[in-house]
Amino acid sequence: IRIHYVDPDGNTTTLNVPDGQNLMQAAVQNGIDGIVGECGGSLVCATCHCYVDPARLSELNPPTEEELELLEEVAAQRKDNSRLSCQIKASAALDNLSITLPETQY
Ligand code: FES
Repeated sequence: IRIHYVDPDGNTTTLNVPDGQNLMQAAVQNGIDGIVGECGGSLVCATCHCYVDPARLSELNPPTEEELELLEEVAAQRKDNSRLSCQIKASAALDNLSITLPETQY
């Protein structure tokens, strides 16, 4: 499943993410700067913040209450398309999704 990680300068890295893996894990395993994932995906750190392509936001499972709460604590500006990448699982439906990484996670 192709996921495009776009850094704040507009440089894109495309990863082939296995079905079911979350987008934070894939980024960390492949050394993508800009996603930290300090808590390992347990919804406590907010250092996996990303901006999802607004055109495809509705294709994702909606954020849980916990994710919404944690999104209030992201370091960079929170936008309408802000999500925590550890809560987005790769699936065939998301093929070719672009996510943009914020300037900072701290
Ligand atoms: Fe910590 Fe996503 S990795 S909240």
